[in-house]
Amino acid sequence: MALVTTVAVSFVLAAAFGYCADRLRLPPLVGYLVAGIMIGPFTPGIAADSAMAAQLAEIGVILLMFGVGLHFSASDLIAVRGVAIPGAIGQIVLATLLGMGLTTLWGWSLGAGLVFGLSISVASTVVLLKALEERNLVNSPNGRVAIGWLIVEDLAMVLALVLLPILAQVLGDGEAVVSHAANSHATPASGGMDVMLTIAMTVVKLAAFAALAIILGPRIVPWILTLVARTGSRELFTLTVLATAVGLAFGSAAIFGVSFALGAFFAGVIMSESHLSHRAAADSLPLQNAFSVLFFVSVGMLFNPHILIQQPLNVLAIVALITLGKSIIAIGVVLALRYPMSMALTVGASLGQIGEFSFIVAGLGISLGLLSQEGHDLILAGAILSITLNPLLFWAAGKLKAMLGKTAPTFVATHGASKLAALSRELEIVKARVEEKESQQQLKKQQLVSMFPLFSQVDEHALEELLLLFRPDSAEPGDKVIRVGERGDAMYFISAGTVEVRLEAGSVPLEAGAFFGEMALLSGGLRTADVIAVDFCQFLKLDRRDFNMFMARHPRLRTVVSDMARERKQMNVVRETNGGASE
Ligand code: CMP
Repeated sequence: MALVTTVAVSFVLAAAFGYCADRLRLPPLVGYLVAGIMIGPFTPGIAADSAMAAQLAEIGVILLMFGVGLHFSASDLIAVRGVAIPGAIGQIVLATLLGMGLTTLWGWSLGAGLVFGLSISVASTVVLLKALEERNLVNSPNGRVAIGWLIVEDLAMVLALVLLPILAQVLGDGEAVVSHAANSHATPASGGMDVMLTIAMTVVKLAAFAALAIILGPRIVPWILTLVARTGSRELFTLTVLATAVGLAFGSAAIFGVSFALGAFFAGVIMSESHLSHRAAADSLPLQNAFSVLFFVSVGMLFNPHILIQQPLNVLAIVALITLGKSIIAIGVVLALRYPMSMALTVGASLGQIGEFSFIVAGLGISLGLLSQEGHDLILAGAILSITLNPLLFWAAGKLKAMLGKTAPTFVATHGASKLAALSRELEIVKARVEEKESQQQLKKQQLVSMFPLFSQVDEHALEELLLLFRPDSAEPGDKVIRVGERGDAMYFISAGTVEVRLEAGSVPLEAGAFFGEMALLSGGLRTADVIAVDFCQFLKLDRRDFNMFMARHPRLRTVVSDMARERKQMNVVRETNGGASE
């Protein structure tokens, strides 16, 4: 199948099955996976090009990780570090060991066991966010702990993705080891030195990449975004956001050898520093959604459902490990860290599934020759079933909480209460800080309208744009801000102080809240009067190009400004004739 056909069929089937899944009160994601299975090579009927689908999926992963980065809040993570960091690491280690234990029973090799263990140890961000959103838990302390926990897991997995090729050499599953972006040695390790060198090289590259991303990124990217936002073209803005995400992901993979996922994640983090980040997020979300659908469809395509018939017991074991094993580990870790039962249950239910990262790890495992196709199919089966069962897990957690509330009320009420209170306080502070930042922006807009009532003509979006377009300017008493007879290059809004418009027949004072310099811009002619600062003045200046662009898109505002200009002109004519008569 060609590219267009693959995309078309994937979208149509995903939409149809996604809707069916929703009717069955399952996450739509399950529908996308089923759509993928339907058009995969293992089921009768049409078969799409899975190689092409895999490439489309890669774009999905890039956008997904970009979104994670965009929403990544360092301060949130710092607030929940006490439980999220030890929790995530503890869970990864325990779950990986458990997975390796299970595969040892099945007689798999150590490398295969490691890949298997790692891939079941990390939950899906997409599934988690959707589950929390549905239950209105995203902003609750428990929800934020779960999200922070998963981000730590994601970061750990990014590291694992880098280290896995190196480990593949050590574990040396022989000839099958192929070179990967992160290392240039195609042959299995010839000795410890080689491996150490590769690890050192990787760490140096990673550090160089991180340093560049952290130092240069926040200086360049927000600057570019503001520059583009000032053009007022939404399409260009969206394109820039997308170009940054995909470009950084690709560039960092090509130059530094880090994964696409990590590059995209950093692009998101860098962009989240800009005050335009919420617009970037809103603009890229539809694309992110569409491509993540393709990601799940392509995962479904890779899945061979025969595994369900051939190895039902193994599938059952994996599903139990993911849903029950991982949840119990999470609950145990949270309780051991002395946090309350309700948090343990929420986190446990949230993490009792696997998704995108597991597919990525498993895919890498296959390309490194560590994991067999059969292992891959088992992981996919585990993912599809655990995602489907996830709502059930939340339901069970709720029931368990209610039951424990009755049987062990003191334990539920007191265990971890003080730690939760401290955590909630810290989260409140972070929230307040974020809200303050947002309200400052809101305040600026309100101030703009209350100072210059003519801006009540335009909407929120336009006000935001104006804030970007305005350049601050100031003048001292006696300064000539505008000279008669010059070409008009900008319009001025007075935010403080008083100016005097010097006309031939006398002068007119203009105070804060007024504007001037509009006539020459509207007519395209020359300045009609001198404008001189009477005291210390502050202005918001709108350059001619921006003026033309903005007025063209807001005709009502243009009318108000033109009316004022016409009125002034008439007034000047009257004055001149009056002045002339009195002379
Ligand atoms: P412009 O001609 O670009 O530069 C001089 C500015 O003085 C002019 O735009 C108006 O904004 C302002 N101006 C001219 N006449 C009057 C008036 N009668 N009252 C207030 N402002 C005026």
